[in-house]
Amino acid sequence: MPENESQLSRLVVVGLGYVGLPLAVRAAEVGHEVVGYDVDTARVGCIQACASYVEDIDDERLRGVVDAGALVATADPAELAGFDVAVVTVPTPLLEDVPDLTYVESAAQALASHLGRGALVVLESTTYPGSTEDVFAAVLQKESGLAPGIDFHLGYSPERIDPGNQMWTFDCTPKIVSGINEESLKQVRAFYDTLVDQTVPVRSLMTAELAKLIENTYRHVNVALVNEMAVVAHGLGVDIWEAIDAASSKPFGFMRFTPGPGVGGHCLPVDPRYLSWRVERQLGRRFRFVDLANEVNDQMPRYVVQRLVEALNLRQRSANGSRVLVLGLAYKRNSGDARESPALRVAELLLRTGAQVHAVDPHVRETVPLDPRARRVELTVEEVAAADAVVIVTDHDKFDYDLVRQQATYVLDCRRRLVPANHIESL
Ligand SMILES: NC(=O)c1ccc[n+]([C@@H]2O[C@H](COP(=O)([O-])OP(=O)(O)OC[C@H]3O[C@@H](n4cnc5c(N)ncnc54)[C@H](O)[C@@H]3O)[C@@H](O)[C@H]2O)c1
Repeated sequence: MPENESQLSRLVVVGLGYVGLPLAVRAAEVGHEVVGYDVDTARVGCIQACASYVEDIDDERLRGVVDAGALVATADPAELAGFDVAVVTVPTPLLEDVPDLTYVESAAQALASHLGRGALVVLESTTYPGSTEDVFAAVLQKESGLAPGIDFHLGYSPERIDPGNQMWTFDCTPKIVSGINEESLKQVRAFYDTLVDQTVPVRSLMTAELAKLIENTYRHVNVALVNEMAVVAHGLGVDIWEAIDAASSKPFGFMRFTPGPGVGGHCLPVDPRYLSWRVERQLGRRFRFVDLANEVNDQMPRYVVQRLVEALNLRQRSANGSRVLVLGLAYKRNSGDARESPALRVAELLLRTGAQVHAVDPHVRETVPLDPRARRVELTVEEVAAADAVVIVTDHDKFDYDLVRQQATYVLDCRRRLVPANHIESL
């Protein structure tokens, strides 16, 4: 709880997704009066019905704040009126490989007509350095006639939420905060100090924007490095997983990353491209690490399919006509998020070979953009036994791995969830 009531505000959270909903719930729990605004009426309806669509927020927790009237979800922009603090957590995708800030701009437009003097507006969406001021604040100023840093406070605070991570939750993960000037930074920090255990102030909006992109690019590059290592190690006949375990025994100067079927979500496939786009646009040079990481990681689904085709051949089967059971459609373990998921690409490439694809994912909704020729099924003895190959793309804890080990003819395990055996290979 904040130390005094004056730190509590009427808060609006614009965009109630994986980032916005946990923030809105946490803010309501500590005593802010929260209006959650989303253009997606289905999501608003779910919140009103206390049916969470984000794994980290269970229905009971949502009910606690909704029933108390501490969190009100709406799709009506008129309800944004009278806010002290607004936090924007809308998508920042790519459109034909170029940053698409139209969601950020429309969020700013919705806020501008309700923006009052002295209010605080913070952007949390991941974006390229310079855009909080040049794009987000520019729209706010144009539409409201109020100047950032003079008439209202402006901040940027990147989100670090790691869906499904039980140890590093929203409130115990340090949060970078920045402002357009010292007074704005003070306001941003005071607000987030009510929500998280530790805030990390930086001197400018651009520093905070870049910090987020450094974090994501660092992971993207290291995942690409280990993915390329996995391809090379397989060719050399070395067990990459054992080699990584051995390297991880070094207590300094090494951080463990593990290979996989490719990258999904937003942080790795999308965010580093925001940085490389900006670098190329502003500095006229390529960001080669990002380019290379994209190339390596984008190739991984194709490599997975190539390994499956080879394994089927060795068993005197062609991919064409074989049945392949894909385990996991989400891009990460125990998550229902299939955005940019490499599993969708693996399924598509398998279908192109003429394979029949059956796919299992207890977390991912039916609406996921899986090729309609692939069939969604349950993980049963019959399904596993009838498959010519099983590929573990995402190793959800809910899967019955004993069943897979015992019933499968052949398994390609992209996550080293199973101990290798004659019929079980790791990536
Ligand atoms: N998901 C993550 O793990 C994660 C982690 C850190 C940062 N981020 C970043 O946070 C931002 C949001 O990501 P997310 O995963 O929460 O996205 P999301 O798609 O789950 O949620 C965004 C929500 O914003 C809503 N929206 C879009 N335009 C709107 C508008 N004009 N007004 C009101 N609502 C609007 C959408 O309907 C959606 O519900 C992105 O920039 C993302 O890169 C995401």
